[in-house]
Amino acid sequence: MIFRQMFDSVSSTYTYLIASRQGGEALIIDPVLDKVDRYIQLLAELDLKLIKAVDTHVHADHITGLGALRDRTRCITVMGEQSGVDVVSMRVAEDDEIAIEGICLKALYTPGHTDDSYSFLMADRVFTGDTLLIRGTGRTDFQNGDPVQQYDSIFNKLLKLPADTLVYPAHDYKGDTVSTIGEEQACNPRLQVDSVDQYVEIMNGLKLPNPKMMDVAVPANLRVGLSQDEVEARGWSLGCDQAEELLGRPDLILVDLRDKAERERHGVIPGSVHAPYPELAENVRPGGLLHELARSTGKRLVFYCAFGERSAMAVEAAQEAGLATACHIKGGIDAWQKAKAPLEPGAATG
Ligand SMILES: [Fe+2]
Repeated sequence: MIFRQMFDSVSSTYTYLIASRQGGEALIIDPVLDKVDRYIQLLAELDLKLIKAVDTHVHADHITGLGALRDRTRCITVMGEQSGVDVVSMRVAEDDEIAIEGICLKALYTPGHTDDSYSFLMADRVFTGDTLLIRGTGRTDFQNGDPVQQYDSIFNKLLKLPADTLVYPAHDYKGDTVSTIGEEQACNPRLQVDSVDQYVEIMNGLKLPNPKMMDVAVPANLRVGLSQDEVEARGWSLGCDQAEELLGRPDLILVDLRDKAERERHGVIPGSVHAPYPELAENVRPGGLLHELARSTGKRLVFYCAFGERSAMAVEAAQEAGLATACHIKGGIDAWQKAKAPLEPGAATG
C-alpha cells in the first residue's frame, strides 16, 4: 500500500494520499488548495490516477483542494450527505463505502465538531477529521458544532473501535502525526471525563478565537461544485423532463456512471446500462466499449450520475473523443428524484 501523510504548515492540516499500488488508483483525504500542485506532482511521480477526493467536513481554516483537483484530474469529489456544500460528485452516509482499486473506506458519521463531520475507517486505521485529534478534540463552537453530539461520536463510535486502531487526524498543532484509539482513550485530557455534562463543560469553556481564514474559507468551501452551465450552454444537457420523455427510445443509450453502492441505495433509471465513472476514459476513447457501441449503432449516449458532476465531465470527455451527440442529465439522480421521475431498484439491473 502507498500511504502518504502530507502537511500544510499554514493551517496545520494533514492530507492523506492512499493507493494500493504504484500505477493504480488513488484517493486523497482533506486536500488543501495551496498544495494541489504538490499532490499532482506526487501523483505523477508515483504513477497514480486520482479517482476520489474526500473532505471529512467543511473546513473553516483552509480552502479545500477538492474543486481544483476535480478540475485538473476529473476525479470524483466526495463529502457526507449532511454537508452544506453546493455540489459534490458523491455523497456518503453512515456505513457507506468509498472504494477505489484495492482500498475501501467505511464512512462513520461523527458529528459534533460540525454537523457534517465524518470519520473514515480503513482496515487498521481511522481518519478522524477534526472529531478526534491527538490529545485533543475539534472545537464545537461554530458551524453547527455540538459538544453533546461530539461526546456521542467519540465515546460511542470511535472509542468502540479496537484499541490498536491507528488514529490519523486532520490537524495537529504540536507535531504529532499518529496515535491509537487506546492511547487517546488513556491519555487524551479531554476524554478523561465521567459524564457527557463534564465534557460539554470543558468544550463550552474553551473560548477560542475564530480561525484567521474562517470568513474566507467557509464560503469558499461551500462553493466547490463544478459549473454545469458551460455544458448546458453547448447543448449537451437535458433537464429531467426532457430526459423522461426520451425514456424507452431505441436511439439512445442511458449510461449510469455511479458506483454500485449508490445504485443500490438510490435506484436506477429504467433501461440504463452501468459504466462506472473511473473507467470512463477507457470506455469513451476510440476502441472503448461505449465509443464503439455508440458509433456502430448510431445511438446517442446520455450520461447520468448522482448530482450531474461526473456526467458533465463524462460529456466533455465523450465530446473530446468525437462523440458529438453525447449529453447528460443535469442535476443527476438527485434532480430526477425531486422531479418524481421513474426509478427501479439498483440491484435489478446489476
Ligand atoms: Fe474543522
